[in-house]
Amino acid sequence: MKNIVILISGRGSNMQAIVEATPPGARIAAVISNRPDAAGLAWAAARGIATVALDHKAYPSREAFDAALAEAVDGFTPDLVVLAGFMRILTAGFTRRYEGRMLNIHPSLLPAFTGLHTHARAIEAGCKVAGCTVHFVTAELDHGPIVAQGVVPVHDADTPDTLAARVLQVEHQLYPAAVRWFVEGSLVIEDGRVRHRGVAALPAAL
Ligand code: GAR
Repeated sequence: MKNIVILISGRGSNMQAIVEATPPGARIAAVISNRPDAAGLAWAAARGIATVALDHKAYPSREAFDAALAEAVDGFTPDLVVLAGFMRILTAGFTRRYEGRMLNIHPSLLPAFTGLHTHARAIEAGCKVAGCTVHFVTAELDHGPIVAQGVVPVHDADTPDTLAARVLQVEHQLYPAAVRWFVEGSLVIEDGRVRHRGVAALPAAL
C-alpha cells in the first residue's frame, strides 16, 4: 500500500478531488496544512483522515519550519507527497529530501507564469489559452519535470476569477490522474523530462 501525504494551505479542492479518486493500492495517510484554519483540514478530518496543522508563523526561519514539516511528513512514511495549493516556498533541503516523489499543481501552462497571480498575468498578456501543470518538485520554484498539462480557452470577457474557475475544473481531473500514474509506477524521469510508461489516454475533457 502506497502512502500519500497531501500538503495544503487553504480550501483544498484539489486535495478533495484526489481523496475522492484515491487509486487502488494507495491510501491518503495524512493531510498537513501550514495554516491551522485551512478549510481543507476540517474536510479531511471529517472523513477520518489524519490531519496535522503546522503553523509556519510559529517557526523562526524557513529552515526551522521545513525541518518540522519534514518530521511531520516522514511520520506517515510517504511514498508520494502531493502539494495541493500549498502556498509556501520550500527550501532546497526539503525539495531534495522528496526528490522524485513530490508533485505540485500550478495554475498556468509552465514554463509560462511561474509564481503568483497567474490568471491575471495570462489575461494581461493576451493569451488565448491558459491552463494548469502538474510537475515534480525541484529546488527551483515551479520548474520541475512536467507530468501533465490541461488547457482551457481564455475568453475576451474573462476576469482572473472566471479564468481561475475554468482552470480549476481541469485541475480537479488532471491532478488525480497524475497521482494515479505515479502510484501505478507509470512516470519515469529521464534527462529531466517525464516519460509516460503505459499510460492510457488523458481524461476526455483535457
Ligand atoms: C489551485 O488553483 C492551485 O493550482 C493553486 O492554488 C489553488 C489551490 O486551490 N496553487 C498554486 O498557486 C501553487 N503555486 P485548492 O486549495 O482549492 O486546491
